[in-house]
Amino acid sequence: MKLKDYGLTAQELKDKTQKYLIELCDRFPFVGETAKGMYVYDTDGRAYLDFYAGIAVDNAGHCNEKVVAAVKEQVEQLMHVFNYVYTIPQSLLAERICTTIGMDKIFYQNSGTEANEAMIKLARRYGVTHYGPKKYEIVTARQSFHGRTLGSVSATGQPGSGIQANFGDLTPGFKYAEFNDLDSFKEAITENTIGIMVEPVQGEGGVHPGTMEFIQGLRKLCDDKGILLLLDEVQTGWCRTGEIMAFMHYGVKPDIVSMAKAMGGGMPIGAICARADVASAFAPGTHGTTFGGNPVSCAAAYAEIGELLDRDLAGNAKVMGPYFMEQLKQVPYVKEIRGLGCLVGVEFEEGIDALAVKHKCCDLGLLITALDSHVIRMVPPLILSKEDCDTAARIIKEAVEALS
Ligand SMILES: Cc1ncc(COP(=O)(O)O)c(C=O)c1O
Repeated sequence: MKLKDYGLTAQELKDKTQKYLIELCDRFPFVGETAKGMYVYDTDGRAYLDFYAGIAVDNAGHCNEKVVAAVKEQVEQLMHVFNYVYTIPQSLLAERICTTIGMDKIFYQNSGTEANEAMIKLARRYGVTHYGPKKYEIVTARQSFHGRTLGSVSATGQPGSGIQANFGDLTPGFKYAEFNDLDSFKEAITENTIGIMVEPVQGEGGVHPGTMEFIQGLRKLCDDKGILLLLDEVQTGWCRTGEIMAFMHYGVKPDIVSMAKAMGGGMPIGAICARADVASAFAPGTHGTTFGGNPVSCAAAYAEIGELLDRDLAGNAKVMGPYFMEQLKQVPYVKEIRGLGCLVGVEFEEGIDALAVKHKCCDLGLLITALDSHVIRMVPPLILSKEDCDTAARIIKEAVEALS
């Protein structure tokens, strides 16, 4: 859709948005009309260098040609039939994902939170059917983020936050422990625990990478206790951190892993992959979805993942992430720069407001996200170059200087 075809100005469109949408987001002030590669363009044709990629989604670049072609072809061929029918994209994508990341089985969903719901449900069913009716507790991390549906909200370790408060009783069966603190997880495990669920890098919680000792320690702890390691790779998956999946950094394998965001190259899709014996805890009638495994989303994901692998965009993220973090050292008033691959956070000293930095960067032509009052996060498309990193770091520096 083009704005001019509807006889509207950008302001009129924004007014309609404010009037009719339940607005839950701090929007940039422009109307995005097109996007290509590293750039988003507004209705006046102004280019914005994109260092947030629709929050870690457009990993192979905006409107990647192969993804666009795959969607166009599939849309004209078969859009939706439900999972009664075998479809080509669904099956070929399943093989591509399972063989690439070394997991046995996949179940498709439509989003990250839904993938996590499936992961939680599968682990709980596995526990209850194998070990008895009380074996369904899951230990998750404080400051984690697992999504916005009630199960994922309950798994999210942020009691009292806007994410969890004032929704009445949350789903029982979750305990929270300290991220990057193995002893805290050990203490939280009881005879009713069936699994541990963490993000390898806490994204929304402020960009905190799991340490080698912690993630490897969780794997060993799960093995020793005979419980499941559940990794939420919704944000870290599909090359973001410099490996295809972040668990590959740590040399461990989860029993179930969830994914979404980048997997579809901009089309909505999520999934869980599981060990075969764990996956068999789901049987017909125990879980399901109308749109999960939709042929168009699967065709897009098949093309996106092909691009990520063929162009070794994990390799590019592994080089560009550290390079970008090095360039960010020129930014003043920084308390800490942290991240893994191209999932990068900058924590500012008191007095620098992350939201103000985000908006100033936008004025200067760069798109980033603000996580809390002091942390900005950059999750650019993984096709980025050193020049893009230079430009982004320079703009962030200018923005902070202008605000201080
Ligand atoms: C680690 C993690 N899990 C789950 C989600 C929820 O994904 P979605 O917004 O697709 O439901 C997010 C979204 O930011 C995430 O970062």
